[in-house]
Amino acid sequence: VPGSGSASMETAVSNFVEPGMKFAVFANGHFANRMSDMGQRQRANVVRLERPWGSVFTAAEASEFLERERPDIVGFVQAETSTGAYQPGIAITEAAHKVGALVIGDCVTSLGAMPVQIDSNGIDIAYSCSQKGLSCPAGLSPVSINDTAWECLSKRKEATWNWYLDARMQWNYFDSGHVYHHTPSAALYYAMHRALWLVEEEGLQARWERHHRSGRQLVAGLGELGFIPVVENSEQRLWHLSTVTPPAGVDEAALRERLLAKYDIEIAGGLGQFAGKILRVGAMGPLATEERVAHLLACVAAVL
Ligand SMILES: Cc1ncc(COP(=O)(O)O)c(C=O)c1O
Repeated sequence: VPGSGSASMETAVSNFVEPGMKFAVFANGHFANRMSDMGQRQRANVVRLERPWGSVFTAAEASEFLERERPDIVGFVQAETSTGAYQPGIAITEAAHKVGALVIGDCVTSLGAMPVQIDSNGIDIAYSCSQKGLSCPAGLSPVSINDTAWECLSKRKEATWNWYLDARMQWNYFDSGHVYHHTPSAALYYAMHRALWLVEEEGLQARWERHHRSGRQLVAGLGELGFIPVVENSEQRLWHLSTVTPPAGVDEAALRERLLAKYDIEIAGGLGQFAGKILRVGAMGPLATEERVAHLLACVAAVL
């Protein structure tokens, strides 16, 4: 899809969530809210199961919600960048498939750094981006649609409400006919090709382990400096994006400013209900190494 992760999110939602459908969203962060917003703009009946930010849904919660609501389609975020929590997906997809619903999984932040595993996690429509785990420039986003979802889409009577992200029209290009649809950026395809080659060369498993190691190193080091992880359960934390609250008395925005001014290192603040309260520290792609993380920790300690 030509565009950033939001364009691939909109591709998933605008092709599969039709006006009047019931769209169940597992809402535990900012990007799940964005998905709900997109669903509402498609004139769907959006129903939400809320959970405190920083936590993930259990299979029992998913099943109770979906049995009650019996939606046509379900959406969840696998790697919620606004909170730092990881929800592989199977707890939600099994319950969704039992009630006959397709599942859209946001894999924007997981791809290239943590297991996505769309088939074993039961994700029917998955979308991602280029600029996070793959560490490419932003602007070209992978989308995956399985056979079951494609069959549903092929039966859709009304054309997708937006033209540019119409998956059926786009497929006419990728299919053997190469029917012109839009002009992509060739430079981004070269970048993506190179990034995937680097993943292949390193090996996916080795890449996951590298991100896992540097994530543990980062959280432990920040812990020694007095930062507290937002995601309490260490098993549910993203490996390459760590969310922490600053030590008492430390202003997060001022800290980020000092880090940028003195060391040219930019880390992110909170989004939505976490704005002004937490720090989101990414260590992904070439930055997820012991040396880079140690450097970051030393710089944070120096400006604390
Ligand atoms: C989980 C998740 N979904 C969607 C998006 C939107 O992606 P983009 O900013 O590339 O449009 C982001 C961006 O950070 C994200 O983290």
